[in-house]
Amino acid sequence: MKIAIGCDHAAFEEKKIIIDYIESNFEYQVIDLGCHSSDSVDYPEYGHLVGKHVASGKSDKGIILCGSGLGISIAANKINGIRAALCLSTEYAEISRKHNDSNILALGARFVDIDNLKSIIDVWFTTKFEGGRHLTRINKIELT
Ligand code: RB5
Repeated sequence: MKIAIGCDHAAFEEKKIIIDYIESNFEYQVIDLGCHSSDSVDYPEYGHLVGKHVASGKSDKGIILCGSGLGISIAANKINGIRAALCLSTEYAEISRKHNDSNILALGARFVDIDNLKSIIDVWFTTKFEGGRHLTRINKIELT
């Protein structure tokens, strides 16, 4: 499984910790699409990069982070086929996989501490989509 990851400057330190965490605890290949320093950048660029990577099939899933998780998730969701879910708790991570088949996990580095970010990632990685009526619904999301 390939996981694309991207962030803005507000989450650069957390991204490094999260990449180490995933590589140490899961047999996934992490593809780091930036940013690559704490210098100020614009979150839409990284939301789009990760969104396009996942939507094109270059990665199976993605993780995106900014300060709140809001801006970068809004940007990623502009890419057709992307269902980026901003998850502030493990409960949101669980329901976003079971009901929405979220293919990108969005995290807010300024609002969730690192232990909780790791817990959210654990749940998001290990929870399966339930399909059925939820498949009918997610198939209605795209307008084109
Ligand atoms: C950057 O200061 C901040 O606006 C960004 O990380 C994010 O929170 C936007 O939604």
